[in-house]
Amino acid sequence: MECNLHGTGVEVTHLGLERAENPVSSYAFRPEDWTIEHHGSTGYNGRMSVAIFDEMKTYVGFTAADAANLTALGPLVIPHVHNVLDRFYGTIMRFPAARRVLVGGEAQMRRLREHLSNWLRQLFCGTYDAEYAGRRWAIGHAHVLVGLPQHYMFTAMELVWQEFNTIVAAVKPPDAEARLKSLHKLLLIELGFMLESYKASYGDRVRQLEHDAMQDRVRRAEQLAEIGQLAASLAHEIKNPLAGISGAIQVIRDDLDPSDQHRVVLEEVLRHIDRLDGTVKDLLTYARPQRPRFKPGDLGAIVSRVATLLKKEPAFERVSLEWSPIVEAGQIELDEHQIEQLLVNLLLNAAHASRPGDVVQLLLAPESAWLSITVRDQGVGMDEETCRRAFEPFFTTKSRGTGLGLPICQRIVEAHGGSITLRSRVGGGTSVTVRMPRRQVSVEGGANG
Ligand code: HEM
Repeated sequence: MECNLHGTGVEVTHLGLERAENPVSSYAFRPEDWTIEHHGSTGYNGRMSVAIFDEMKTYVGFTAADAANLTALGPLVIPHVHNVLDRFYGTIMRFPAARRVLVGGEAQMRRLREHLSNWLRQLFCGTYDAEYAGRRWAIGHAHVLVGLPQHYMFTAMELVWQEFNTIVAAVKPPDAEARLKSLHKLLLIELGFMLESYKASYGDRVRQLEHDAMQDRVRRAEQLAEIGQLAASLAHEIKNPLAGISGAIQVIRDDLDPSDQHRVVLEEVLRHIDRLDGTVKDLLTYARPQRPRFKPGDLGAIVSRVATLLKKEPAFERVSLEWSPIVEAGQIELDEHQIEQLLVNLLLNAAHASRPGDVVQLLLAPESAWLSITVRDQGVGMDEETCRRAFEPFFTTKSRGTGLGLPICQRIVEAHGGSITLRSRVGGGTSVTVRMPRRQVSVEGGANG
């Protein structure tokens, strides 16, 4: 599983909406053709589907003579359509994937036979106009609703064709060959039209799914904004009293005799206060992000400084940190403080995910226009769901985390015009790669340079 989040925002997988919105671009439709009026929400409308139907007729040369042939053939073959129906449904029952869509029991089977029986009779009605096309347009939609794969249209149509051939051979109508030719043309038009209506219906579904997903995202963003506001005001309220408590405890501790056993207790209290302070700072950083103050800085030097500092952190007591200082990293426009915070968050995350004896690697690779920093651990890794949600504020799998570490990193990287990519595999460790532009041109927050 790989989650990709770029500085320009979350990479959204487009479900082909653009294509679905303009499914028949070769036709000269007017803008009003795009109104949503046929079968609920499809991007096609009646006029468009009729235009497609007419074009198919012209393409295969379906003329009034063909219509007349079919009208003449009708009375001879319609009495035998039960043969077509029997073969049609008998075959469906032999194919599990086709059978699977028939979940409506006997009632549905009856409906189906009726639908198909009407459909077969209408083939010989002699009038293949807009109304005819409109009735046919519903088929793909009905099939998409029940989840019937599109390829069955080809196979089912072939059976219909074979059965009609058998019937015609038996009833021996006059001019049989010409009449069969006309029927063949119409069946192919029907097939093409069904596929087109499948496509329109899929387009609807994609649009609906994208719409639902967008609404979900908006709802979630609103909720998060509210939680963020609340958390920020709470954090603000807690910050000052916490500093007061910490100061008071330090005074008491310093007054105690060095051998006093209460010293250990106070040290423990101070450690907890430190943790709370870290949480409060995270909340405030996330809820009230500072605009970066860009200055030319040496990323290589910052990396070395942070790595040296973190080696003394408890999280790195049983995990080793490896990094190769790169002399040639060069100067780029950055906010040193924010980049330090980014590296600290990434390295601490990696250490927390590691097992004793593991190695956390920090790699700095200058590319032509970019500098990339990768933090790689050999730890437990993440499953797909965790990886997908890792950049969501307040999402955490740690018992002690705020779930803001990675969202803060993402904000920092975005403000620097870069991208952040997370790769993880359960049991196979995690690596986070940050790519920063070597020269800051113009990023949000008023970069210089
Ligand atoms: C030549 C191929 C086919 C044609 C012409 C055809 C025709 C139709 C028609 C006219 C409808 C009714 C559409 C409406 O609601 O107005 C329909 C619905 C349906 N068709 Fe087909 N069909 C074909 C192939 C298949 C196949 C292979 C299956 C396999 C199971 C199938 C299963 C269904 C189902 C489940 C419905 C919905 C019935 C309901 O619950 O009302 N169709 N089809």
